[in-house]
Amino acid sequence: MEAWARVYPKGKSVTNHTPAPGAFAAGRRLNATLILPCGGMSRFVRGLQGAAPKQIRLLSQGCSERIARPRLTILRKAALVDGMTLDIDFVRAQFPAFEEPSLQGQAFFENAGGSYMCRPVIERLERFHRQRKVQPYAPYAASRLGGEEMDEAQTRLAAMMGVETDELSFGPSTTQNTYVLARAFAQFMSPGDAIIVTNQDHEANTGPWRRLADEGFEVREWKIDPETGLLNPEDLVDLLDEKVRLVCFPHCSNVVGAVNPVAEITALAHAAGAFVCVDGVSYAPHGFVNVDMLGADIYLFSAYKTYGPHQGIMVIRRTLGMQLPNQGHYFNAGRLDKRFTPAGPDHAQVAACAGMADYMDKLAAHHGITGGPAERVSGVHDLMRAHEEALLQPLLDDLAARNSIRLIGPVTAAGRAPTVAVALARPGEAVARDLAEHGIMAGGGDFYAVRPLGAMGVDTEKGVLRLSFVHYTSRDEVDQLRAALDICL
Ligand SMILES: Cc1ncc(COP(=O)(O)O)c(C=O)c1O
Repeated sequence: MEAWARVYPKGKSVTNHTPAPGAFAAGRRLNATLILPCGGMSRFVRGLQGAAPKQIRLLSQGCSERIARPRLTILRKAALVDGMTLDIDFVRAQFPAFEEPSLQGQAFFENAGGSYMCRPVIERLERFHRQRKVQPYAPYAASRLGGEEMDEAQTRLAAMMGVETDELSFGPSTTQNTYVLARAFAQFMSPGDAIIVTNQDHEANTGPWRRLADEGFEVREWKIDPETGLLNPEDLVDLLDEKVRLVCFPHCSNVVGAVNPVAEITALAHAAGAFVCVDGVSYAPHGFVNVDMLGADIYLFSAYKTYGPHQGIMVIRRTLGMQLPNQGHYFNAGRLDKRFTPAGPDHAQVAACAGMADYMDKLAAHHGITGGPAERVSGVHDLMRAHEEALLQPLLDDLAARNSIRLIGPVTAAGRAPTVAVALARPGEAVARDLAEHGIMAGGGDFYAVRPLGAMGVDTEKGVLRLSFVHYTSRDEVDQLRAALDICL
């Protein structure tokens, strides 16, 4: 069954309305109330990526309608050359680790723990330490250049993610960032308010929030299905009411691997008057997202898993960021990018984050992807995901065919990240040790995902074996892994 999304400009009464021609022109910001069929939000956002549609057609799942109030920027999708695939040789040439003699013959499958660093980041880091390791933002050249490079990192990454420059800030790590944000919410919320957390998250986006219960706030848990490990948005609806101020959830769990429909979940939370905090740590390495299009109020990720240095990166949208109590020095309260980063920044690492933007731009240019920063990374995202999915499916098929192990998360590559956890009779770490004998670099344990593993009935003492890769992984490496698993499992 097909349905039409009805789009109502802000302030207009909810009557049948067909958007004016040009209402969805590229780059146009739209404040609208949308009435969408259940499950329609992600398809709607995906639909908007097409070239300036005058009306948007959605496939209905036949569920009841819900009201959402997203704030969207309509983007023109960067044109991908037909049939273009990721040039894996070009990609690997951007990572010195692949040329490193001591790593030859070893295939890296612990990328979800931390990725290799791309060449532009390494070069910028070294240049900063050699030439600019002085207090930045003073008038002398070394200082001025250092400060400019830090600003460049912030400006370029923010533009790639579809947000204003000062809506993006750097903190020591995602975990520290969520602890600071949780303090801000503790001061922001009123007695009787509630938050929603999941048991699918890495501890970083759930533990700090759960501690708000110690201060008298209600903490509600959005639970995964114990068999599949998946979060069902229908269950969230039952938890939402006018008391809920915040919903915290992962874009993608670091053990389940399924990609959650962020735009859809965000729309549900917003419709109930709640903000959202999305842990994007496990998703960002597979492609930068447009936070404006997703609608998230907070989107967090870690640069050291995304080809960069050891930094947490935080997008906080202005509407929320200026309402939350300032956690930084009082005289910086007017600066959004300083309100939730009380620690002094690691200048060199912040500056080196500009190398992540260099790398994305290099990939875009090499593959003929054009457009603005957000359009270019969107094109690169699709290339990376297509490569990952093609390599992932045979691995999933192998693992799903074994009765002796439990494959965690979906068995199909589409809609999941190549972060594959398996529960075995033996501890995950023991199997990882065996795999190392065959040139496979992988890890075992709970990966600080104790709650989801426990909820799925996995023995957290034994943990899981985790096999995670990214777009720079080659088919040969996946074949090497599959052959090693044949021997070790
Ligand atoms: C999904 C997820 N979220 C959060 C974190 C914590 O990130 P950080 O090490 O930057 O605190 C991790 C780290 O492994 C993670 O995998």
